[in-house]
Amino acid sequence: DAGHYDNGGYEHYLLKEISEQPDTVARTLRGRIDDRFHIAHLGGLNMDAREIRSFRRVKIIGCGSAYYSGQMGAQLIEELARIPADAEPASEFRYRSPVVEPDTLYVAISQSGETYDTLVAVQELKRKGGRVLGIVNTVGSAIARETDGGIYLHAGPEVSVASTKAFISTAVAFALLALHLGRVRDLSPADGRRICEGLRRLPEQIKEILTLEDRIKELAKKYADAPGMMFVGRVRGYPVAREGAQKLKEISYVHAEAYPASELKHGPLALISPELPTVAIVPDDELLDKNLTTLGEIRARHGRILMVGHRTSEAADDCIVVPKNEVELDPILLTIPLQLFAYHAAVALDRDVDRPRNLAKSVTVE
Ligand code: G6P
Repeated sequence: DAGHYDNGGYEHYLLKEISEQPDTVARTLRGRIDDRFHIAHLGGLNMDAREIRSFRRVKIIGCGSAYYSGQMGAQLIEELARIPADAEPASEFRYRSPVVEPDTLYVAISQSGETYDTLVAVQELKRKGGRVLGIVNTVGSAIARETDGGIYLHAGPEVSVASTKAFISTAVAFALLALHLGRVRDLSPADGRRICEGLRRLPEQIKEILTLEDRIKELAKKYADAPGMMFVGRVRGYPVAREGAQKLKEISYVHAEAYPASELKHGPLALISPELPTVAIVPDDELLDKNLTTLGEIRARHGRILMVGHRTSEAADDCIVVPKNEVELDPILLTIPLQLFAYHAAVALDRDVDRPRNLAKSVTVE
């Protein structure tokens, strides 16, 4: 209940939780980075190196934002640990009666640790002999107790219904997990070091992004009158786009859809017009040119574009430039401006930011 926690002088818990992220990320990282061997210490996993080397697949489950953070996590695991990984909504996973494999590592994500759909999926996995880790914020919660081990986020209580700091800390926890798995498989010491250093830079870089708040607020006001928004990203940018769209629809009630950028031309391009602006996630990575081409295609249909990336571009109407980290970790930072964008859009539209209609912080029934 919101009444039990101090809002720290912020107008909304959501803004407090967004603003706390330099600290909450530092807490998720604390004591877990080993700069000597460029590895992660994750004592709660209860897994030895031999077991880690036996996994041939990683399957991640969760609901809502937890699911989107799992999609971000799957990419981190594939990139750093080179184990095929994917994420799926927990309820879909359970209802399709999945084949539970002995050489698959299952990871359940939950801020509250009490989400029914995720909890019963974990129970089903355990019944069938699956090895399940939890990435959970709430210590001692049902999912934390039900899993074989895991990673606590240590992000502190999240009060606002829309998840922000737990999403970011979950992605950070996945980077640690990917580093840990990778370094007992075939991630090089040099890459391990690159990731350790990148992780250490995150809190300061988040602080830098938070200083963009006034500008993001102006942009949110400018775009908030649109009846809907499209969010696009490629590969690393796609989970960012999905979470950005999720935040906007949850708290501002503006219709928002996320698409992989290359899929635009296979359908949704028909929607593009001055009335449907696009938020484009454009990191400086190997897909930069492809993304800029997509912006040109949207432009040609008179769509307005807000680009979020590492540089400005003439192809966009407005740009939010965030500090660059390692390519694998950039999605974490690219998500932060979208939280502020959704928050200020919701405020501009006079919504009940912390308690959006029809939603609950944790859904403990089916
Ligand atoms: C609810 C909330 C979402 C949250 C989801 C999963 O639907 O409204 O914000 O992402 O549950 O919650 P969990 O506690 O399992 O992360």
